[in-house]
Amino acid sequence: MIAVENVSHRFETSGRQSHLALDDITLEITDGAFVSILGPSGCGKSTLLYIIGGFVKPTGGVARVQGRAITGPGPDRGPVFQEFALFPWKTVLGNVMYGPRQQRIPRAEAEVQVRRLIDMVGLKGYENFYPKELSGGMKQRVAIARTLAYNPSVLLMDEPFGALDAHTRTRLQNDLLNIWERDRKTVLFVTHAVDEAVFLSDKVIVMTRSPGRIKTIIDIDLPRPRKRAELLLDARYQNYVVAIERLIDDTGIDEAAR
Ligand SMILES: Nc1ncnc2c1ncn2[C@@H]1O[C@H](COP(=O)(O)OP(=O)(O)OP(=O)(O)O)[C@@H](O)[C@H]1O
Ligand SMILES: [Mg+2]
Repeated sequence: MIAVENVSHRFETSGRQSHLALDDITLEITDGAFVSILGPSGCGKSTLLYIIGGFVKPTGGVARVQGRAITGPGPDRGPVFQEFALFPWKTVLGNVMYGPRQQRIPRAEAEVQVRRLIDMVGLKGYENFYPKELSGGMKQRVAIARTLAYNPSVLLMDEPFGALDAHTRTRLQNDLLNIWERDRKTVLFVTHAVDEAVFLSDKVIVMTRSPGRIKTIIDIDLPRPRKRAELLLDARYQNYVVAIERLIDDTGIDEAAR
């Protein structure tokens, strides 16, 4: 379980100023849940993921995983971040092999698994390409495969499908749901797309404009396994999407009225 207890974060910025990015966030995410975070640009979604990933130490409060305070990154929490960094000197295969090799999985065994993941993200045939030879969306898919390859129990995904074309995006949503339904990893998923959040999640967290606070948490009570084509026709699905879009609009109106 991930527990975020009264977490605030203030960034020191240039010229003696500081910026409150997160204000008193308290959350519990049970093992195996798929949770999405929605909110306006700059509300602190990435910062919250960095804190849970152990890359940023919050200036207030504490984040825990399985009861232990998070003090740094760990193999239990796998990040797929907005500013993904592939190893430029490694091929696609080399990048995805990195995690399993670090975990001392024998090369032949790792390679079978890694080639399957590369195929899953639609990059079969590109195993020997270097990152600079790939498009932005292709690099993002390598980053997703690389994280999945070391099999963390918690996936921290920061707009992982944001840069992808609609077709690839839909495919990867389905693949991610299949993986999740099989392995029941805990997924924390940041997105700007309300329909994507409803389609994938058990819970959707809506954050306010900066400084980010939790505005509402909505349970998505739709049966699984979910099929996109069926859901699009389902009134309950449509109602969730509309209700959440309204909530996000409200966030803007509140701000304008101040
Ligand atoms: N390293 C940093 N130094 C100073 N301020 C920062 C830093 N990183 C983020 N911020 C500020 O903290 C706030 C939250 O940033 P964050 O990247 O978490 O937002 P976000 O919700 O992920 O936005 P987006 O949807 O655009 O990705 C922003 O106002 C940003 O300017
Ligand atoms: Mg962000």
